[in-house]
Amino acid sequence: MKVLGLESSCDETGIAIFDTNTGQMQQRLYSQIERHREFGGVVPELASRDHVAKAAPMISELLSEIGGIGELDAIAYTRGPGLIGALMVGASIARGLAWALEKPVLGIHHMEGHLLAPMLEDNAPEFPFVALLVSGGHTMLVDVSGLGQYRILGETLDDAVGEAFDKTARLLDLPYPGGPKLAALADTVEASRFQFPRPMTNRPGLDFSFSGLKTAALNIIQQHSPLDETLRTEIAFAFQHAVVDTLRIKCARAMDQTGHSRLVVAGGVGANRRLRQVLKRLAQERGTQVFFPAPEYCTDNGAMIAYAGALRLMAGEHDENVYDVLPRWSLEELGDVANQGVSD
Ligand code: KG4
Ligand code: ZN
Repeated sequence: MKVLGLESSCDETGIAIFDTNTGQMQQRLYSQIERHREFGGVVPELASRDHVAKAAPMISELLSEIGGIGELDAIAYTRGPGLIGALMVGASIARGLAWALEKPVLGIHHMEGHLLAPMLEDNAPEFPFVALLVSGGHTMLVDVSGLGQYRILGETLDDAVGEAFDKTARLLDLPYPGGPKLAALADTVEASRFQFPRPMTNRPGLDFSFSGLKTAALNIIQQHSPLDETLRTEIAFAFQHAVVDTLRIKCARAMDQTGHSRLVVAGGVGANRRLRQVLKRLAQERGTQVFFPAPEYCTDNGAMIAYAGALRLMAGEHDENVYDVLPRWSLEELGDVANQGVSD
């Protein structure tokens, strides 16, 4: 079966076609980063318009590679969470296509897409596992016992990790989106004169709080202003060090709590080189396993939506008469939401 995946929840238009027989994935990705850069963040209305302009031509291009629209067996799209207008563009296109072709359609949870993305690798994790989801909008630890069986173990009480990276990068005058740029700067040194806190690690539980790290960075910047390059680099290093250390401590705790021996890392911050290194070392020390998606499948993409759609389709699912999108949607609601038409 060939499943079309359509991701449009934020500032990336991702289109992919997954062939369940061959395991082959073809994909196209268009990032709107340049469009939003001058505003220092995603402008929802511009995001929706760009999805309208880009999605259909990208789908046509990909369809011509597989021998035409008649080859499709199902269509999956991101139903939420995300920006309402952006989601509606993807949902309208997907549902329109499915209606015209008389094929099944599946509204996929964006974070489910992220957490299943490591299964696209050759060395795919098996259920059950602990998933660390770290993106620009979410930070959570999830107990994953099977497809759609998700229990949130902990999540951020304020900023998401990616958001904290981006905000701190902005304080360091790095261009939007600053997360990867801050990481690259931090990776140029081995030490720092600064020490940032490891928030919420000295009390029990698996929740996170990252807004204090941004404030810690701001205080140091104000004390040492104007910053030279060495100072900026050392602040970036200390910030990244604290974030990664905090994530490491909580991942170990989540694995102790669940007894799972597999850790799956997904979401944009999963591309972070230091995080990958530290979690690999943790797995070696504990005799456990850690799985990451390929870097291009860490950030938003259509492949993860096509793949999640294919798994659900093969499990016998598709949506009946669902016309809404879900800008807010908890992973834990997944099992029963598809046919209830729950709206925000
Ligand atoms: O998953 P994603 O593409 O979008 C959301 O669903 O949010 O994640 C984007 C986030 C941004 O905040 C970006 O700065 C961050 O992931 N990010 C990184 C790195 N690459 C992307 N943060 C730290 N280090 C990286 N290498
Ligand atoms: Zn995402």
